[in-house]
Amino acid sequence: MSSYLADLFSLDGKTALLAGGAGAIGSAISEGFARAGAKVIVHDLSQERLDRLAKDFAAKGLEFKGLQADLGTVEAAEDLVARAKAVTGRIDILVNLQGVNRRKPITQVTPEDFDAITAVNLRSVYFLSQAVHPVMKAQGGGKILHFSSLSANFSFDTISVYAATKAAVTSLTRSQAHEWVDDNIQVNSIEPGFVQTEFTRPLWDDDYRAGWFANFVPQGRMATPEDLVSTALYLVAPATRYITGQNVVIDGGVLTGASWVEAPRRPGIKR
Ligand SMILES: NC(=O)c1ccc[n+]([C@@H]2O[C@H](COP(=O)([O-])OP(=O)(O)OC[C@H]3O[C@@H](n4cnc5c(N)ncnc54)[C@H](O)[C@@H]3O)[C@@H](O)[C@H]2O)c1
Repeated sequence: MSSYLADLFSLDGKTALLAGGAGAIGSAISEGFARAGAKVIVHDLSQERLDRLAKDFAAKGLEFKGLQADLGTVEAAEDLVARAKAVTGRIDILVNLQGVNRRKPITQVTPEDFDAITAVNLRSVYFLSQAVHPVMKAQGGGKILHFSSLSANFSFDTISVYAATKAAVTSLTRSQAHEWVDDNIQVNSIEPGFVQTEFTRPLWDDDYRAGWFANFVPQGRMATPEDLVSTALYLVAPATRYITGQNVVIDGGVLTGASWVEAPRRPGIKR
């Protein structure tokens, strides 16, 4: 890499904590950050996912430190930050990827469903950021990146609680960015559209549904986790020290609009 690009985008010397980082999107971003030079700490609820990622990293000659925790409680967030800080003595980057969904019509959502989704998607994001703040402040700054969702802007049936938590995360991005600007902490978010992962498998796992996505998404396909890596890297890199409180939608053009029902798609165009 030229020294010009390295100065802008290298994560050499940085420690990155990726919460929910052994999931589909988190695994791709963890690998990207490791390749960009960061010391990567991957947290996940699932020890099995952490073990799977460890094998994958080892096969690629990469390393990370894995930390397991259920972020369902506030104490868990504080404990995770303490364990992560013990790894290198600093946390320069926090990425919040932890997320859950339970797809149900509004009329069938129980208080327990509501609490289970908000506990992970909003409360843990809120308190993990709160717990990491003093660490970043004491070391002179840091970067926080939240994984919100296109559903913050554009909802579908059966995801009302999930969509509400993601809209709240996009809003929280601005509140944190503003309150922590003097601490040199930049806070931004990404709203992915439809990413082909286990998380969304019920939405694409047959020919009819897969065909629906090909027609609905202007770019003609769902995203892959790898489609999100470069923007995540950009938003935590030195290059973007003057970008804060922003949200980047990565949706293959969904928010640009829709085609009339008569308009032919353009089969065979590879995007
Ligand atoms: N896949 C998509 O299409 C899509 C679209 C928009 C936004 N997102 C968001 O991106 C993020 C990553 O999604 P993904 O597709 O990689 O999903 P994923 O399920 O593969 O990853 C989410 C991770 O969160 C972890 N997690 C769940 N409950 C937890 C808890 N109580 N404590 C700690 N960790 C917990 C899971 O173990 C999992 O590894 C999520 O926040 C999701 O809402 C995904």
